[in-house]
Amino acid sequence: MTVTIVGAQLGDEGKGGIVDLYGDAADVVARYQGGDNAGHTVVHGGEEYRLSLVPSGAIRGKVGVLGNGCVVNPQTLFEEIDRLRERGLEPDVRVAERAHVIMPYHRVLDGIEEEAKEDDDLEAGTTGRGIGPTYEDKVGRRGVRFGDLLAPEVFRDRLNYVVPHKRTLVEEVFGMEAGEEFDIDAMFEKYRAYGKRLEEEDMTVNAGEFLKDRIEQDERVVLEGAQGTSIDIDHGIYPYVTSSNPTAGGACTGTGLGPTVVGQGEIVGVIKAYLSRVGTGPLPTELEGDKESKQLAEYIREEGGEYGTVTGRPRRVGWLDMPMLRHAARASGFTGLAVNHLDVLAGLDEVQVGHAYDLDNGTVDTMPTTTERWGQCEPVYRSFEGWPEADWKTVAEDGYSALPGGARAYLEYISTELETPVYAVGVGPNRSESIVRVRPFE
Ligand code: GDP
Ligand code: IMO
Ligand code: MG
Repeated sequence: MTVTIVGAQLGDEGKGGIVDLYGDAADVVARYQGGDNAGHTVVHGGEEYRLSLVPSGAIRGKVGVLGNGCVVNPQTLFEEIDRLRERGLEPDVRVAERAHVIMPYHRVLDGIEEEAKEDDDLEAGTTGRGIGPTYEDKVGRRGVRFGDLLAPEVFRDRLNYVVPHKRTLVEEVFGMEAGEEFDIDAMFEKYRAYGKRLEEEDMTVNAGEFLKDRIEQDERVVLEGAQGTSIDIDHGIYPYVTSSNPTAGGACTGTGLGPTVVGQGEIVGVIKAYLSRVGTGPLPTELEGDKESKQLAEYIREEGGEYGTVTGRPRRVGWLDMPMLRHAARASGFTGLAVNHLDVLAGLDEVQVGHAYDLDNGTVDTMPTTTERWGQCEPVYRSFEGWPEADWKTVAEDGYSALPGGARAYLEYISTELETPVYAVGVGPNRSESIVRVRPFE
């Protein structure tokens, strides 16, 4: 059986913590899209682990798989594995032979293209990891895959074809100098060495077959989404998006498991009790403008530690946006919800929610299809009574009924609006600060 974990908003909803929570009962945790743009935090045994590539279950001894839908920088991958080994862990990570390799020129191009877009305010505020350019090459049929790193002749052919394109782009279109990141021989040597290490450590797999075999042996598989629905390339706020499908469909195409397999399992949408955003673009429920809103944003940012896991950038903050969540619940077909960060809002007199939008003298309850139209939306707020600070560890031990009444009313509102039950509630970053109502593998 599979349990798919999907970010319902703009990324950083606390997916790592939920994967950790549900991954405990699993045998395998597989990422299905994205790359080292992700930053997933897991707190285990008093230690904090920030993972960009290694699937969150790997710190608890689960087999981690990077599916074919991922774009993987082998340098980051090995650095992350080595760091975990230094901390006494033995992560068992497999990479799909169909996954695409982030090459040095992809990172360079990510930077150049973002800069070029700045004048027109079109930059996405990317993580600079080369994600977009790598997916572009995948779709443009000029990418390098992990399987190619194991086949020297094929690998060299790929480089011989693609690198001159990239050079020309940098030199002729952007008028810049193409540096060592465009040196075929140097790249060949370095990436062949990665290929050899992959072979030595028996790390590459046919992800679909690997996962299907495990499922047939009654093993439990978590499919770990990175990013979130509103930065999905198809369903997000284009062009301020990432270049993959964090929504549940990505769990099929990004692993090689069929929709019937994924659909027989559960799909848990992870929601942050408010919004945070590291990138650019509109954000109707953003707390900004007047002094009071800015102070509130500052308060939530500090309480919630809203600084990017990958880049350290301060995150923009806003109230929960229900049209965004209705869109997410439909796009992925959530069977359950995990709502995190309720503790962060504790102590506020009032908590607001963007229940719907005013648009063109009418009211809409889901996101418009274009981001420009979304930017014209004025939230129609609903106000909830705040809830007090509490000893969250004790609340978590005592369970759902121990939550302050205001927090329960908030959760019940979300659940009713999305017609989806709340499976888990996060009241702090530690696993012992989660209230688990439903364990999907049990
Ligand atoms: P992800 O990218 O979705 O895995 O989320 P990140 O790890 O980037 O960001 C979530 C942050 O919030 C991390 O620092 C988590 O440890 C923390 N966190 C997760 N759930 C909760 C919660 O319920 N309350 C609080 N206060 N922090 C949480
Ligand atoms: P996790 O998995 C939040 C955002 C970037 C930028 C846009 C494109 O930790 O939730 P990219 O580097 O992917 O080309 O950037 O997407 N972004 C994220 N925001 N959480 C993430 O991952 C993100 N990964 C990318 O800030 O706006
Ligand atoms: Mg994150």
